[in-house]
Amino acid sequence: MDTPEGHRPESIAAQALGWIDEATRAITPPIHVSTTYIRDHLTGRVYARADNPAFDQAEAVVARLEGGAQAALFASGMAAATAIFQALAPGDHVLAPKVMYWSLRNWLMGFATHWGLQVELIDMTDPAAVEAALRPGQTRLVWIETPANPLWTITDIAATSAAAHRAGALVAVDSTVASPVLTRPIEHGADLVMHAATKYLNGHSDLIGGVLVTREDNDFWKRVRMIRAQLGSTLGSFEAWLLLRGMRTLFLRVRAASQSAQRIAEHFAQHEHVEAVLYPGLPAASGHPVAARQMQGGFGGMLSIRVKGGEAAAVATAANVKLWKRATSLGGVESLIEHRASVEGAGTPAPADLLRLSVGIEDCGDLIADLEQSLQQASR
Ligand SMILES: Cc1ncc(COP(=O)(O)O)c(C=O)c1O
Repeated sequence: MDTPEGHRPESIAAQALGWIDEATRAITPPIHVSTTYIRDHLTGRVYARADNPAFDQAEAVVARLEGGAQAALFASGMAAATAIFQALAPGDHVLAPKVMYWSLRNWLMGFATHWGLQVELIDMTDPAAVEAALRPGQTRLVWIETPANPLWTITDIAATSAAAHRAGALVAVDSTVASPVLTRPIEHGADLVMHAATKYLNGHSDLIGGVLVTREDNDFWKRVRMIRAQLGSTLGSFEAWLLLRGMRTLFLRVRAASQSAQRIAEHFAQHEHVEAVLYPGLPAASGHPVAARQMQGGFGGMLSIRVKGGEAAAVATAANVKLWKRATSLGGVESLIEHRASVEGAGTPAPADLLRLSVGIEDCGDLIADLEQSLQQASR
């Protein structure tokens, strides 16, 4: 196993830690598909629902990029996130943000609440609200998403983690949008990091996957891993292989998307057909000062625009684009646009005039020109 010690994260990602296949000297790994392994009664791998060599390299790369002790791949981002909550006990109190990935919010308010978790949704961007909601000795987990869907609000991971730890709570961060290129939550005090690997880590809109990273290998982490094995929320071998391939270009993709998103946000910030641009890279954004401290090298590829003329104008703008793809999801090489409120449905914090944009790696001038023509056409 050749691991380039002391190398920059860009080098670690590009060479997937420099591992080669010892059997063949191949520089990309084979796809391990076996579900079972030769073993004696005490040692060796047991069964691929719990433990699969196809995961080893991708998990090691993510753990290294995040500065954590270990990582675990899951069948989806949702499977990864829900494993953390399932490792708690019924009756435990948890804090989560009002503005967060809608499907996880729905699961928390539905399944998790029914199962017995006391879930409290708060304004996680407000340190005073966090302090007021924490119940020392009772609050077990604080869930952060930053930047947060679909308004791209920013939570101060360091301040929130310090407050949570004083109260005896763990902190988990959904860092899907920032990716380890821009933010490493463990360095800011978080205990656990979650990614929908479906998004930037893979980057090509061709797999569903999730990953968790832990600061330390402790009892809570062992419970999380046991839940993955028992529930069978494991990634497929081919998806693990694809993810490893996708991560080789992670830094190039995220930096290109962030640069273009910044340009697009600045271009449309003062536009005749745009009410507001929501992007933490704009100095006027309320989260900008914290984002500037917490995010390095850019503010991510996600932004939202509120279109003048309300819902009808926003929907028409999404319908008229030619280069942007009218589709949900994010973090792929192709740019996506969607009317978020109609995806999220009742209870969404997304205003009716909001379009969510996931910026890819196309020519930024082409992306701006396409959005321009679409806004002009929608306003006629
Ligand atoms: C921020 C965020 N977290 C979690 C998820 C869930 O990931 P998955 O779709 O892989 O289950 C998503 C998916 O859109 C997401 O955007």
